[in-house]
Formats: sequence, structure tokens, C-alpha cells
Amino acid sequence: MNFPPFRLLRWLEHYWKAGAVDVCTSNIEGYRFSEFGRQFDDMNLAIAHPFGEPSLRETLAKEYGVRTENVMVTVGASEANFHVCMALFEKGDHFIVENPAYEPLAEIPRGLGYGVDVLERRYEDGFKFNTDGLVELIREGAKYAFICNPHNPTGVEIPEEDLKRVSEAAEEHDSYVLVDEIFRDVMKNPPPSAISVSDRMIVTASISKIFSMAGLRLGWVVANSELMEKFESLREYTTVAVSSASEEMAKWAFDRKDEILERALSYVNTNRPIVDEWLESNDLVEYSAESKTHFCFPKLSGIDDFKFGKIAAEKYNTIIGPGRFFGLSGHFRLGFGMNTETLERGLESLGLALGDVTGT
Ligand SMILES: Cc1ncc(COP(=O)(O)O)c(C=O)c1O
Repeated sequence: MNFPPFRLLRWLEHYWKAGAVDVCTSNIEGYRFSEFGRQFDDMNLAIAHPFGEPSLRETLAKEYGVRTENVMVTVGASEANFHVCMALFEKGDHFIVENPAYEPLAEIPRGLGYGVDVLERRYEDGFKFNTDGLVELIREGAKYAFICNPHNPTGVEIPEEDLKRVSEAAEEHDSYVLVDEIFRDVMKNPPPSAISVSDRMIVTASISKIFSMAGLRLGWVVANSELMEKFESLREYTTVAVSSASEEMAKWAFDRKDEILERALSYVNTNRPIVDEWLESNDLVEYSAESKTHFCFPKLSGIDDFKFGKIAAEKYNTIIGPGRFFGLSGHFRLGFGMNTETLERGLESLGLALGDVTGT
């Protein structure tokens, strides 16, 4: 195994410590414990359910239209993604990964020792999912693919008919497709989960994004029974179970899903036109792809993304995500799920940083 540093996380951590305004984040303005208006009563702290607290698993199973046994609760989508890749690993198998991509989605398979085939998304094509390319790689023998819908960092959606084509190829060639759907609920009229398209799909997600509860580290994986057996066996040797306090709060969150979704979407819907206007009015940036979620991946005009990121952070105390951390220099990730005042402050600073970087 050989894992390089997770560059985006190190970058964020470094500037968070300095108290910078984060307009890179793919989180939504954080939910506060006090907003639940609830207390833990006599929760039994000695109990840990290896595959998830039964009623939470049941709730998740209902959300996906699967049986309870087809859901396993994990320590965030991060553990779910790592766990799946680890549990399936066999020397010589190939994993298709996308570029650009949220770093772990490319680096986990590579780091574990899979053969890696890279599938590009091109800005010139609106960062459209490369369905033909994926199908071709499956035909050529790739055993697994790792995709993200909607896609991080571009926000672009994979249409359902493309998922169907991919799943047909997977069925025909005995392959599986791991779909990270952590941002699905942030979309207007979210499409059905990939798990409803085919049991060749493995789905991961968490309460980090739309529920704004990344600190609880609560996610899950949904898969067919044969795969789930492999995931469960490995689980017994890794984290054993998720924090029971987090599971309890996740249940509270699902009790209020509609209200929490509305809260999150109110930030996103208020902020999207502000970002669109900023992009429109600034000659040094552009974004012609269609983001269906609360971040985008604008192109810089002749500006180095890393240099821009350094000036924004160090001179203007504002964090963006340099494109090279997602595999594509010359772009940057801009998030807009935070409170509007913070976003506006961040955008103003980014305008100043762009002026500086062109002057250097
Ligand atoms: C695509 C994607 N998957 C997984 C994660 C990690 O999520 P979690 O906080 O649930 O571990 C993130 C975090 O930004 C992400 O963007």
C-alpha cells in the first residue's frame, strides 16, 4: 500500500488553523446541536452495533428501497469508500477512476494497489461524464469503477440513462460500479439512487453534506447481499462499529429530514445567483459547466491555481481549492453552501486576490 498525502485536506487544515474564510468547502453551513432541542437520556454507552443501529439501518434501507441487510453504517462516506475498495481488493484487478476527482476517489484504489485506469472529464465538454469511455474500459476488463454523482468538484450530474448503460456493461462483464452519492440530496429533484438502477452498483453517502453534520462522522454503504457479506467480514476487523451517540443523532436528523433539507437548500438557492453574478462580472474566471449542487469548478484565465490559492489565503485570509488537488490545474473549487455573508466576504477577497495575481 502506498498513499500520498491528501493534499486538499492538508491545505484546508493549514488555513483553517489560521482562521481563514473557507469558500472551498463542500459542506453546508453547520447544523448546531442546540437546533435539535433534544438531550441524550439514558443511552446505553456500552452498546455498539457492528453494522449499524437496527432502526437507523431500517430508516436507511427505506430511503433506498432495499432490505436492512443491504445497508451498513460507517464512519462517514470516507470510511465507506475506503472499506469497499479494501474489502474487494484482489491483486491484478483494475479500478476505473475519474479525473478531475475528489482526491480519495482516485487515490484509494491506487494506494491499495489496484491497477488504475483514468477516465477524463473535459471542461470543453461541460465536464460531462464520459459514459462511452467507461463502458469501453469495462469491456476491456476493468473490474470496478469509482464515480461520483453529482460529481465533485464540478457539480455535474450523471443522467440516469447513462447509469443504465454503465450498469448493463457491468452486468455483461461481471464488474461493479461504486457510486459516491454524498451530494445527491442537494440536487433539485434528486434522481433515484444508482442502487435502484442495478445491483451491480454500490452506493456510499453520509449525513455530512445535506444534513450539515460532518462532525458526527456518520455514513453508509448500500450494496447487494453477496458484497455486503464481504464488507461485514472486514468490518469486524476495522472499526467494529460507529459511535452510538452519532447514530442516535443521525436518527434525530432523519426524523427531521425535510426540515433540514429545506434549511440546506435555502443557503444553496440564495447563494447560487450570487456566485453566478460574481463569475459573470469577473473577466478572469468562467464556468460554463452546469453544477447541480453547491460548488463549482471555475476556470481561471491564464492564472496559476496554486499561486491564486496562496495569495487568497495568505493575503486575504480566504480559502479556495486549487484545481491541481483535484487533478486539473487552472481551475479552482468554489463552494457556496455557507451563510451568505461569509460567501460575499469570501468573493470580495477572491476578486482582490485575482487582481494581485495578475499583477505579479
Ligand atoms: C465525494 C465525497 N465523498 C466523500 C466525502 C467524505 O465525506 P464524509 O464526511 O462523509 O466522510 C467527501 C467530502 O467532502 C466528498 O466530497
